[in-house]
Order: sequence, then structure tokens, then C-alpha cells
Amino acid sequence: MIALAFNFNVLTRDLSLYLENQVKVGLFGSGVGLSLILGFSAAYACYYLISVAKKPQLIAGGKKFFQFLKEQCPVVSETYYPTFWCWESRVQTLLRPFVTAKPVVCYRNELIKAADGGQISLDWFDNNDSTTHPDPAIRPTVLLLPGLTGTSRESYILHMVQQSRELGYRCVVFNNRGVSGERLLTPRTYCAANTEDLEAVIAYIQSTHAAAPLMAAGVSMGGMMLANYLGQKGRDTCLRGVVVFSAGWDVFECTASLEKPLDRFLFNSYLTSCLQASVDRHRPVLEKSFDIDHIMKAKTVRQFDERFTSIMFGYPSNEDYYRDASPIHKLKSVQVPMLCLNAADDVFSPNHAFPVEVVKQNPHVALLITDHGGHIGFLEGVWPWRNTYMDRVFRQFTKAIMEQGSQLRVP
Ligand SMILES: *[C@@H]1O[C@H](CO)[C@@H](O)[C@H](O)[C@H]1NC(C)=O
Repeated sequence: MIALAFNFNVLTRDLSLYLENQVKVGLFGSGVGLSLILGFSAAYACYYLISVAKKPQLIAGGKKFFQFLKEQCPVVSETYYPTFWCWESRVQTLLRPFVTAKPVVCYRNELIKAADGGQISLDWFDNNDSTTHPDPAIRPTVLLLPGLTGTSRESYILHMVQQSRELGYRCVVFNNRGVSGERLLTPRTYCAANTEDLEAVIAYIQSTHAAAPLMAAGVSMGGMMLANYLGQKGRDTCLRGVVVFSAGWDVFECTASLEKPLDRFLFNSYLTSCLQASVDRHRPVLEKSFDIDHIMKAKTVRQFDERFTSIMFGYPSNEDYYRDASPIHKLKSVQVPMLCLNAADDVFSPNHAFPVEVVKQNPHVALLITDHGGHIGFLEGVWPWRNTYMDRVFRQFTKAIMEQGSQLRVP
């Protein structure tokens, strides 16, 4: 940013000198082109600094949590500078998987049994080299939940593992059933409303690492599942804190937004085909319970949910499923520190459905809203290969909860 402001100063100074010169020699020759370029650059820099780079908005229901975030997570008060050459919402969303680096992470895979006879694939990053927390029994654990069709291999998950590695923590990624290469043993996958698998995973982590503090981070659908879980559990959970990125809050509004022509073309069709590919892969297990050919003809996520997800989890209608999956109705019951980051230009989670009023009523929840960032974008800096704004929020909040979280504990 400093570099940008500096360039901007140099640019305006050069520009005025240049224009002065032009007046003397007359507006002829190649100078015209250069003036245009300089003029355009200066105008763009002004526009960027005035309209694009903004401080995020922090909404918290309680003074204590608000102060805690201000003190422990300075990122919540800093101006967010989206990458100047790709700050637009859809561009960020589409480019992020390609422009961000994929840190090398070696996982230890473990399959655990679920109550229905199915299996859940966990990817552990043990961090046995941790110098800050050498004792594995008490090394803090971060549970990571990827988005709708994501796995432990998504770049945003790898970045969170990288941040945790630097902090000396352990991570475990909860892969949704059937998406990370493991076999489906029963005709059951996952949805944002059903938290049975998440509960089984948390109970398992508790049984194997009882003395290690545990918190969780969820992205998009993973975040919605976490929010729904916290809303159901109230204080009855061992999670010390939760951070949620780019979650949808009202599923009706999210699907409606993704059905607008451009977003349907850019995102909805692709997501639907990813969901269908997963169903197709597990056809032998699923075809006894579902009309696979009908599912394969779905054109949108909503049609997919009507034909598959809502039926799988026993909802009378897709509307019942969408209502149950919308975290906005459950946030009022959350009783552990929960930070939610959303971008106001996210087309997957439209800002008119952000749970602003609910958050204002709950002292345990905070909502951090950036103007730009798209869906799981949050690219920042001139070269956004390394860390995103989201990675910095993750790191600071995780460290704050693990090391200073006792400040927030309700007696
Ligand atoms: C880390 O150490 C634990 C034992 O404390 C072991 O079970 C695990 O396999 C080790 N992980 C790796 C990746 O070596």
C-alpha cells in the first residue's frame, strides 16, 4: 500500500510537470499517448484509493468481544487493499484458486466410522515439528471445514494449515462424505443442515486429544454447518471458538442470487456439475435410493437439492431443507466466540441477507464485512500469491482464541 501511495504521489507530480511541458511544446507527437496513459493511471489510483480500498465494518453484539477483537486481531481495524488489478467480486472469486499458491502439505489420512455404517475421511496435519507446542497431548487443534464440493486440497484450506503450522498448532480437515476419494459405504453424503457427522468428528477429536484445546474454522458451506451446529449446541460444545468465512446466511437468498443469469452462467452450472460428478462417482451405492438420471439432468444447485439433498435427509420439501440449513435462524443461540467474515459483494451470499440484527443481539458473535473480496476471494496486495486477507483474519483470531480466549469465558 505504501508503495502504491508513493507511486501515486510520484505519478501526480510527474503528471503536472509533464502537462506543463506539453503546454510549452504543444500537444503534438507521441507525448499525447503518454499523457493519456499517465492521466488514466492517476485517475485509476484516485478511484482505487477513494472507492475500493476501505476499512472493514465490524459488528459485534457485545462490547467485550468487540474490544477483544480490536486488541487481539488488529486486522479487523485495518484498511483492506484488494489487489488493484482484480478487485471485482466475480473476478476475485474465479481467479483466487489459480493465483494463490498451493502450499505443500502432507496429511495423515484417517477413516472413522459413522453411526449409520458410513465412513468419514479426516486429514490430519500433526505438526510434530512444532517448537512452540512440542507436547502433542496439549498441542492446540484446529478443525477445518471446506466448502460445498471442497476437500483438504483446496488452496484456502492449505493456507490455513500453513498459518497453523507457523503457530505450532495441529490441524484436522473434515472432508465431506464421498468427495475426497474415499468410498461411500452407505447412501448418504452431506448437507449444511445435518450436523451429525460434525458432532461425531468433534467427539472423536475429543476422545483422541482430550487435553488439547480445540477450535474450528469453516469456509462457505463448512461455515454454515459450523454455525448451525453452534446454534443447536449453545454452550454444550468443547469448541473454544469458531471462525467462519463467506458463509451463506439465508439459503433462499443465496440460491436466488446464484440464479441471476450471469452468476448462473459463471458459478451455478459449474457447481451443479461438480455435485453431479460426485453423485455419478458413487452411483452403485446411491442408485437404489435415488433417481440418478433425473439428478444428472439438474441445471442448478436448487434443482439438485430438490432431487437429491433434501430427499436424502428426509425433508418433506426442499423449502423445509433450505429453511433448516439457513444459519440466520440459529445464530441467536450461539454461545461461544464466533467471528464471521463476509464480503459485501459476494454473489453466493448476498449482503442484504447478512445477519446484522441477529449479531447485534448476541454478545458471542461478531460480523466483519469488507466491501470487496467476493466469495472466498479476499486477495490483497499487488502480488496476491501468498496470504489473503482471510488468511490473516484466520491466523490472528485463531491465535487470539487459543492464547487469550479465557478473557472471553463466561463465568
Ligand atoms: C506425529 O506423531 C504421532 C505420535 O505422537 C504419530 O502418531 C503420527 O503418525 C506423527 N505424524 C507424522 C505425520 O509423522
